[in-house]
Amino acid sequence: MAEPEPPSDWERELKRQIGRRYGAMARDAAFPPGGGDKMRAAGYPGDWVNGLPDEMAASYSGCGFPFAGLDALIARRVVDLGCGAGLDALYLAGRHVGIGMILGIDLAPDMVARAAAAAARMSEPKIKFMASDLERLPLESGSADLVVANASLNLAADKGRALDEIFRILEPGGRLIARDLVRAGPLPAEILTDPQSYNTSLGGVPEESDMLDALASAGFHGATIQDHTEFSVVYSVAIRAEKP
Ligand SMILES: C[S@@+](CC[C@H](N)C(=O)[O-])C[C@H]1O[C@@H](n2cnc3c(N)ncnc32)[C@H](O)[C@@H]1O
Repeated sequence: MAEPEPPSDWERELKRQIGRRYGAMARDAAFPPGGGDKMRAAGYPGDWVNGLPDEMAASYSGCGFPFAGLDALIARRVVDLGCGAGLDALYLAGRHVGIGMILGIDLAPDMVARAAAAAARMSEPKIKFMASDLERLPLESGSADLVVANASLNLAADKGRALDEIFRILEPGGRLIARDLVRAGPLPAEILTDPQSYNTSLGGVPEESDMLDALASAGFHGATIQDHTEFSVVYSVAIRAEKP
């Protein structure tokens, strides 16, 4: 594995703030209200959401349902990047019988602890979690056949590096299934001038065309960005791509 570039001071500070924000959310159960309702509205099956303990559904922080239209996913080794409290990992393990091991990765150790507790409570032994930076993954090349990410790529300091890492850890034929944020045009001044805007998701949202370019530069073929849904001043979209 090539030695990754060391983070700049700006990136270090950004990650410290992201870790603090999501760590505090995980510790204090201080997630924005309405997690379960947001999941139902996004398209997660209602009967599955209804079966979650309230505080677990409340800890959803995604920006949509990444698996819309995918009824019988098959993958042996799944990595969920920026897994938060583990809802997508739980969904895949609970609803897709063709899914093997799932590794959830999050920058915030307290988020990882919360996700691990949720998986234990739901008796899902095939999900494991670890704390790591998705831009510098401690995983072997070609070690996954499915990477999922929900509302985490927008928080990456360098989208190109994040996508390069995803491409590297996927085996040939492996897929990326993500739900994330893109913009069409510049961000409004109130977001650009808000020092907190990056770690609350909106400040780091890329132009849709830049996201497509970064996917192609990483090596993905046939990447698509679809299903645009308004999300504050940007769009939540379904991103899918395959490693040739
Ligand atoms: C908006 S939340 C989404 C959580 C989860 N995917 C969900 O749908 O509920 C973003 C998550 O990404 C994590 N994150 C942000 N930057 C990251 C990075 N560089 N590496 C790993 N995780 C990161 C945060 O700690 C947070 O838990």
